[in-house]
Amino acid sequence: MTGEPTIGDVFGEMIRDAYAVATGTGPRPLVGGRLPRPVIEIIERDDGLVNGAPAAHYLDPPQAWQPYDHRAVDRVRGRVLDIGVGGGRIALHLQERGVPVTGLDTSLGALRVSRHRGVRDLVHGTIDEHVPDGRRYDTFLLLGNNLGLIEGRDRAPGFLAALAALARPGAQVIAHGTDPYGTTDPVHTGYHELNRRRGRLGGQLRLRLRYRQLGTEWFDYLVCSVDELAELLHGSPWRLVDVDDADRPYYLATLELAPA
Ligand SMILES: C[S@@+](CC[C@H](N)C(=O)[O-])C[C@H]1O[C@@H](n2cnc3c(N)ncnc32)[C@H](O)[C@@H]1O
Repeated sequence: MTGEPTIGDVFGEMIRDAYAVATGTGPRPLVGGRLPRPVIEIIERDDGLVNGAPAAHYLDPPQAWQPYDHRAVDRVRGRVLDIGVGGGRIALHLQERGVPVTGLDTSLGALRVSRHRGVRDLVHGTIDEHVPDGRRYDTFLLLGNNLGLIEGRDRAPGFLAALAALARPGAQVIAHGTDPYGTTDPVHTGYHELNRRRGRLGGQLRLRLRYRQLGTEWFDYLVCSVDELAELLHGSPWRLVDVDDADRPYYLATLELAPA
C-alpha cells in the first residue's frame, strides 16, 4: 500500500454514484451503511491545494442551471457536438428541443450515465480520435468550464485544428471559461506567479481528480482570461467573434471558423 490512488475512471465512478444518490438507482456509497453519502468531486492542484465540490450539479435540470448555460444553449445552431458531455444535462435538454446532438466523452462511466438518462447519440474518445469517424458539426459546446480542455500553449494548436477538422463551413464553438485573475487570494495569485515563472500561463492548472480510491493522472486544464484566449487563437482556424461576460468572472466565448 503506497497511499497513492489507483488510476481509473474517476469522473465516471463519481457521476455514477451522484446519479445513484439522486435517483436511488443502483448501489450508493452509504454513511454508516445506511444513509446515502453526498458525492464530492475532489480536485488536487500540483501546489498541494485540495478542493471539494458536490458532484450533483452535473445532473442538474435546466431550472437549476446558471444563467450563462441557458444563454449558451440559445446560441446553438445546426448539428451539435457536446464535448465532455458528462452526465448529459446539456445534451438531454438540446435533444428534447429537437436539436441533433452528439455527446463526446473520454469517460465510459459518464457515457453510461448519459445513456441511462436518455442521451441517444454518444461517442467515446477525444476530439482527435473522433475526426476519422467522418462526422461533421455546426456547433461545438465546451460547457461546465470545458474551455479548460484547451490546456495551454502546447495543446491549443492541436485542439483547435481537431475542432476545425470536425467543423462544417461556418461552424462555431461556444465555450464556457473563467477569468482567474480577479482574485486577491494569495493561494491563487501565488500559484499564477509560480506558473509564469515556469513558463506556463498563470491559470494553467495542473490537476488530478480523486474519488474514493481512484485518481487520474496529472493533467493540464486551462483557466484563462479572454485576452489569453485571443492570443491562443492567433494563427488558428478560429476567430473570437463574441464574449458574453455578463456573469463575470465567468464568460462565454463564441468562436467562428475563419472563411477558407
Ligand atoms: C467539468 S465536466 C463538464 C461536464 C458537462 N459539460 C457539464 O457541463 O455538465 C468535464 C467532462 O469532460 C470530460 N473530459 C475530460 N477530458 C476530456 C477530453 N479530453 N475529451 C472529451 N471529454 C473529456 C470528463 O470526463 C467530464 O465528463
